[in-house]
Amino acid sequence: MSRQNYIFLLSCIFIFMLFSCKHGEGEYHSLTDKIEEKSKDYHGIPVSSEPYIDDLKTVEITEGEHTFLIPERKSQITSYACTECHSKPLEQMKGSDFKKAHWDIGLVHANKVTMNCATCHNGNNMDNLQSLTGNSIDFNRSYKLCSQCHSQQFEDWKGGAHGKNIGGWADPRAAMTCVNCHNPHKPHIESRWPSRFNTQKVKERE
Ligand code: HEC
Ligand code: HEC
Ligand code: HEC
Ligand code: HEC
Repeated sequence: MSRQNYIFLLSCIFIFMLFSCKHGEGEYHSLTDKIEEKSKDYHGIPVSSEPYIDDLKTVEITEGEHTFLIPERKSQITSYACTECHSKPLEQMKGSDFKKAHWDIGLVHANKVTMNCATCHNGNNMDNLQSLTGNSIDFNRSYKLCSQCHSQQFEDWKGGAHGKNIGGWADPRAAMTCVNCHNPHKPHIESRWPSRFNTQKVKERE
C-alpha cells in the first residue's frame, strides 16, 4: 500500500469511529431528553424531594405562578387551639379576675405605634390570624400575614431566593415558611460569628 493510501485508510477509520460514537448517543432525540432520562436515577438515588419531606406534614399553596408545599404549623403551636381558653371575646377575659397569660411573649418587631397583638390576632376569632383589613388568615398560611408588609422578601421567597427549599430543587418543591425561621414576635435574626478552628487554643494545648 502506498503511503497516501495508508493515510487515506486511517482517516476513513477515524471518521467512521467519530460517527459511530455519535451514533451511540442517538437513543435520545435531544439534549433535554437525555438530561431528563439520565437524571431519573442519579447515583442510584431517585431525584425527588420526597425522601426529605416524607415525615413532614405539608400543605400545598399556590401564589401567582408558583405552586409548592410548606410545612403545616397548627400541630406545632403549643397553645393551639386558642379557643380552648379564648372561648369568649378578649375584653371579657381581661381584668383583675384573670391571671396574666402569655407573659413569655414580648413583642420585639415593629414599634408600638405600628404594631400590637391586634395587628395580627383577632380577639373575637383567636383560632385564626387577621389581615390588616380584618380578613381571617389560617395559621398554616401565616406567610400571607408577613407578605402585607414585607413584599420584597415575599416575592423572593416565592421564587426561591429567600428562605430555603427542603430537598433542594427536586420536585415536588417544598420550602420552609416564614415562621419556620422567624419568630413572628421577635423576627430579627442575630448575626453570628462563623465557627472556625481555633488555632490559638490548639497552640495553648501543646
Ligand atoms: C391556657 C389558656 C390560653 C390559651 C391556650 C391561649 N390563650 Fe391567649 N390569653 C389567655 C388569657 C387568660 C388572656 C387574657 C389575659 C391576658 O391578657 O394576659 C389571653 C390574652 C391573649 C391576647 C391579648 C394579649 C394582650 O396583651 O392584649 C392575645 C393576642 C392572645 N391571648 C392570643 C392567643 C393565641 C393566638 C392563642 C393560640 C395560638 C392563645 N392566645 C391561646 C389565655 C390563653
Ligand atoms: C406580626 C404579627 C403578630 C403579632 C404582632 C403578634 N403575633 Fe402572636 N403569632 C403570630 C403568628 C404568625 C403566630 C403563629 C406562629 C407559628 O406558626 O409558630 C403567632 C402565635 C402566637 C401564639 C401561640 C404561640 C405558641 O407557641 O403557643 C400566642 C399565644 C400569641 N401569638 C400571642 C400573641 C400576643 C399576646 C401578642 C402581642 C403581645 C402577639 N401574639 C403579637 C403573629 C403575631
Ligand atoms: C404590619 C406590618 C408588618 C407585618 C404584618 C409583619 N412585619 Fe415584620 N416588620 C415590620 C416593620 C415595620 C419592621 C421594622 C423594620 C425595620 O426596622 O427596618 C419589621 C421587621 C421585621 C424583621 C426584622 C428585620 C431586621 O431588622 O432584621 C423581620 C425578619 C420581619 N419583620 C419578619 C416578619 C415576619 C416573618 C412576619 C410574619 C409573621 C412579619 N414580619 C409581619 C412590619 C411588619
Ligand atoms: C430558611 C429560613 C428563612 C425563611 C423560610 C425566611 N427567612 Fe427571612 N431571613 C432569614 C435570615 C437568615 C435572614 C437574615 C439575613 C441577613 O441577616 O443577612 C432573614 C432576613 C429577613 C428580613 C430582614 C431583611 C433582610 O432581607 O435581611 C425580613 C424582613 C425577612 N427575612 C422576612 C421574611 C419573610 C416575610 C419570609 C416568608 C415569606 C421569610 N423571611 C422566610 C431566614 C429565613
